[in-house]
Amino acid sequence: MQQFREMKQRGERITSLTAYDYPTARLLDESGIDIILVGDSVGMVVLGYEDTTQVTLDEMLHHTRAAARGVKRAVLVADMPIHTYNTPEQAVATARALVDAGAQAVKFEGGVTHAAHIEAVVDRGIPFMAHIGMLPQRVREEGGYKLKGRTPSEAEALMLDAKAVEAAGAFAVVLEIVAAEAARQISAAVQIPTIGIGSGPHCDGEILVTHDLIGLFPWFKPKFVKQEADVATAIRGAASAFIARTRLNS
Ligand code: KIV
Repeated sequence: MQQFREMKQRGERITSLTAYDYPTARLLDESGIDIILVGDSVGMVVLGYEDTTQVTLDEMLHHTRAAARGVKRAVLVADMPIHTYNTPEQAVATARALVDAGAQAVKFEGGVTHAAHIEAVVDRGIPFMAHIGMLPQRVREEGGYKLKGRTPSEAEALMLDAKAVEAAGAFAVVLEIVAAEAARQISAAVQIPTIGIGSGPHCDGEILVTHDLIGLFPWFKPKFVKQEADVATAIRGAASAFIARTRLNS
C-alpha cells in the first residue's frame, strides 16, 4: 500500500469507485481505477435497504467474492459491516474472513474510538483503509447524512481522528462529507492519503459510489456527485424497446 503514500507525495490524485459484482469490478479494473471498494453501500444501491445498517457479513462476503473475480490490477478493499468490529478481536476475525473472500484490504468506520481495532487488524498483516467524517453506519443516530467539520470543535475532533488512524497504521483515510477547509487541513497534516467523498477539492483522492456516478440509482442523488452517465434511462429505454418489439410480434 506504500504506492498510495508515494502518489500523495508526488501530488498524483488517487481514484476509487465501488463495485459489488464481477462485471462492474472488471470494467472498473480495466478502466484503470486505483482502488475498488466493495462498500457496504451495496445495502442501499443493490439490496434495496434503507441504509447500510442492515448489511450482514455474509452479504459482504458474497459480494466481495464476486468483485474479486473481476479484479486483476486495482487494490480491492472490502467494507466491514456494522456490529462486525465491536472489539479488536472481532475486527481481526471479520477482516480475515473478507481477505479469505478475496479482499486485499479492509475498511471500517471510526477514528480515535477505533484506533485499537485498526492496530489489531494491521498487526495481523491486513492493510486497512480508515473512514472518518460522516459515518453512514451511524446515520440513524445522526438523523441524516450531515456535513462534518464545519465548527472549530468538530474540525479539531476530525483532525484527532485522522491522526489516530494514521498512527494506528491505516494506509489511507476516507473523509466523508467533511467541510472543505477541514479536509484541506487534515490532508496537509497527515502523511497517508485522504480520499474524499463530498469533502471538497483538497483531498489526495476521490471515491464515489459507482451507481451515483453512472446514474444507476435515480431515486437518491447526493448533491456532490457529478453524474457521468445515465444508465437508469438506458435500462428503461432498452426495456421499453424490448417490450414494444415483443408485443408487436405476438
Ligand atoms: O460503502 C461505501 O460505498 C463507502 C463509500 C461511500 C466511501 O463507504
